[in-house]
Amino acid sequence: MSRNAEDLADLIRGRAGAEAPAIGLVLGSGLGHLAEAVDGVAIDYADLPGFPHAGVSGHNPKLVIGDLEGTRVAVFGGRAHYYESGRGDAMRLPLEVLKALGADRLILTNAAGSMHPEIDPGDLMLLSDHINFSGLNPLIGEKTDARFVPMTEAYDPDMRAALKSAADAESVPLPEGVYAWYSGPSFETPAEIRAIRLLGADAVGMSTVPEVILARFLGLRVAAISTITNKAAGLSDENISHEHTKAMAPLGAAKLERIIRRYLAA
Ligand code: HPA
Repeated sequence: MSRNAEDLADLIRGRAGAEAPAIGLVLGSGLGHLAEAVDGVAIDYADLPGFPHAGVSGHNPKLVIGDLEGTRVAVFGGRAHYYESGRGDAMRLPLEVLKALGADRLILTNAAGSMHPEIDPGDLMLLSDHINFSGLNPLIGEKTDARFVPMTEAYDPDMRAALKSAADAESVPLPEGVYAWYSGPSFETPAEIRAIRLLGADAVGMSTVPEVILARFLGLRVAAISTITNKAAGLSDENISHEHTKAMAPLGAAKLERIIRRYLAA
């Protein structure tokens, strides 16, 4: 754990109180509403030295610490993507801070395109596994043997089961699938989508995978849910754009919020 992360955790405790969050939530494009539902203290990333700028529209770069459904949470309203800086470890410090605050679980959310015939825009998908199609790794340069992180059950089976139960209780379908990380910021070509479908992916997006690797490195248990905003390139006539992603994300976001609230209340 870096010294900076410990210092930032002290700073955050000074503003939000000493109680440790049980769980961290990272909100994807157009999914920021959940941060407003938390009864707690919001801290701008700009007040946390070393935190990324997280400047993509549709993100709200604040850390909110407080209560949601009786659970102490730390909600990261903005994420930094690899494509903003060329740094695969852009989210390392925020996740180190989460760990330093005492959390042991992390739920990541994202907007994604679907390659699965039965997973459509407006649906959710629980990640069962991923394909690192970008080939980058946020732990490149890490010096210790801890860098050899096992990724066999990277998506925590118990958290997945609990999230599925929460989804069932809310009557929200939550199919599981494999997410492929594409670096962005350009979208994929139809040929790339055909390729990653053949490789076994069900959805594609520009985030989450480096954060899962970093979180497992830090010993956090992880789950991730995609909000499907479109069929991936070449699979439908709809246009694919960031505007479209932001416009479509709220369709799944309302369902996602119900699942997460139910999960936290359990
Ligand atoms: N590709 C990559 N990222 C995305 C997509 C997509 O089709 N939709 C939302 N985020």
